Amino acid sequence: MYPYQITSEEQYTNDYRNSVENPEKFWADIAQYFSWKKTWDKVLSADFEKAEVKWFAGAKLNITENCLDRHIEKLASQPAIIWEPNDPNEHYRVLTYKELLFKVKQFANVLKNNGVKKGDRVCIYMGMIPELAIAVLACARIGAIHSVIFGGFSARSIADRLQDADARFIVTCDGAFRGAKDIPLKAIIDDALESCPFVQRVIVCTRTHTPVSMIKGRDVWWEDEIKIVETQGNPDCIAEVMDAEDVLFILYTSGSTGKPKGVVHSVAGYMVWTNYTFVNVFQYTPGQIYFCTADIGWITGHSYLLYGPLSAGATTMMFEGIPTFPDAGRFWDITQKHKVDILYTAPTAIRSLMAYGTSYLEGKDLSSLKVLGTVGEPINEEAWYWYYENVGKSKCPIVDTWWQTETGGIMISNLAGVTPHKPTYATLPMPGVLPCLVDETGNELADNGVSGNLCIKQAWPGMIRTTYGDHERCRQTYFSTYKNMYFTGDGCLRDKDGNYRITGRVDDVLNVSGHRIGTAEVENAINMHQGVVESAVVGFPHDIKGQGIYAFVIFNGMHVDEEHTRKDVIQTVSRIIGAIAKPDKIQFVSGLPKTRSGKIMRRILRKIAEGELNNLGDTTTLLDPGIVEEIKSGRL
Ligand code: PRX
Repeated sequence: MYPYQITSEEQYTNDYRNSVENPEKFWADIAQYFSWKKTWDKVLSADFEKAEVKWFAGAKLNITENCLDRHIEKLASQPAIIWEPNDPNEHYRVLTYKELLFKVKQFANVLKNNGVKKGDRVCIYMGMIPELAIAVLACARIGAIHSVIFGGFSARSIADRLQDADARFIVTCDGAFRGAKDIPLKAIIDDALESCPFVQRVIVCTRTHTPVSMIKGRDVWWEDEIKIVETQGNPDCIAEVMDAEDVLFILYTSGSTGKPKGVVHSVAGYMVWTNYTFVNVFQYTPGQIYFCTADIGWITGHSYLLYGPLSAGATTMMFEGIPTFPDAGRFWDITQKHKVDILYTAPTAIRSLMAYGTSYLEGKDLSSLKVLGTVGEPINEEAWYWYYENVGKSKCPIVDTWWQTETGGIMISNLAGVTPHKPTYATLPMPGVLPCLVDETGNELADNGVSGNLCIKQAWPGMIRTTYGDHERCRQTYFSTYKNMYFTGDGCLRDKDGNYRITGRVDDVLNVSGHRIGTAEVENAINMHQGVVESAVVGFPHDIKGQGIYAFVIFNGMHVDEEHTRKDVIQTVSRIIGAIAKPDKIQFVSGLPKTRSGKIMRRILRKIAEGELNNLGDTTTLLDPGIVEEIKSGRL
């Protein structure tokens, strides 16, 4: 039990009321349970007009002491991380809290030996192996700012991020195993570095034994560097004293413009928020095995595989592979083998496993499961019931957790077994979260039983602090659409009982298999193909991915034939962004529906992509209404 764990509906109601009526007292009461080198001067100061928010200002701490050192007295030999490899025949690894702390200090010393200092940006591009967790925590130990990049991004995407963050240090692997594939991470980094001469050091951890080119003076092996630290003979690494509002990490995410932005989170508020939400949403009980299937390259992996669970002294599972390798029973094998208590995954994973039927669940002992969770996209009713009945055997509550990279942690969710779940609803706000729905003009819709754009009216500890290197962009994107509110970009319905149901993005952002992708970003990538004149990208409903990517492309002179050209365009997107952004459908068109002022009418393209051909709305304002007929008849 945690002193701030909510155990009844009444307590939720009370805590919620206290949290919004007197947030400073509420969060100070919770924060006292963490380890501080100095406590705060002021709990909260917030100015949404300027997008300036500070939590626990004046306090000093180090998040790794909260995640590791403070647990050692009681939990030294408890597993902190249980790691399950891609190949089930390889042995799993267990790192106790004591071992994890030792390794974090050791790698922190490696970073220091290589010149990394407080405030430096370190890019981490690794597969899901324990060394990834160690690298992240080692950065936090010495106050370096980590920027983890998901292994599915291309060299070009990495280079953009390295340049934006001015990151001079990289930690990577020779390669990564993902299902039957072996991804050559170091080779991709090498390509990225052709346009990033400012990078001083690349530390390469061995995993796949793929041949790699190690450049003299720049590239070093993780294992060699560890040996150097060992010969230096001092295993300790004193945790850097950080200000509450010092930057903990940058994580890039897509928005409605072509360029991903570096979402910045700071130390203290993020720590308190991820811990509090982890403990309450999942109702974690010490000793339980908690399995979050997300990759650390995304915010879910940061908040609910690492920082939330570790700061709570939990045992967190880390899985290197994919749900369908070697077969579609892998999650259930892992659950049985490690007696997983809590499983947190994405609707897209559930839908893809659902498509294989229930035979992969037969004979698997899932009786250890107590709580199921989902995140990343709306979960449809069919997938919800499949998960509830076949995985949870109709006895495990499902927490449908709505949040974003920018929110740092869970914002709207039921609390497992404490507040009721409701299929397809994230249900109620977390204490500290004051949601509101507004119409297009910014009027608040105060009643229940309404739909609108979802905003948050009050500051919460885990919220975004800035977008790296461009604070104005942060203010514009999140705080300028509606006065004195944080705008989420999501549409939302509130039922008659006050439960929230997120209906999807209302901006030009797609959610493909739970991955956020900007349509403008994909268009920019497509337009880089030498034959492309112009393109427009929209989403369409996809049975497994939730949303698929539909591209309308004006092309000048086919290369051999349409099919061939399609592959070329897909290859271009893979090169520019990464495999995750490949269009599912590419329709070649001779023009796009534009207004007289030259603006593409995406509403029409969206309807066509969705197959709603007879319900296109008003097309009379188009420059060339005839183009709509052509596009309709060529629909894929
Ligand atoms: O549209 C919402 C959707 O995912 C977006 C945030 O994406 P990202 O920053 O990549 O973070 C994903 C993991 C937190 C949101 O704007 N989303 C996230 N969770 C849910 C959701 N949509 C519906 N239900 C959810 N539970």
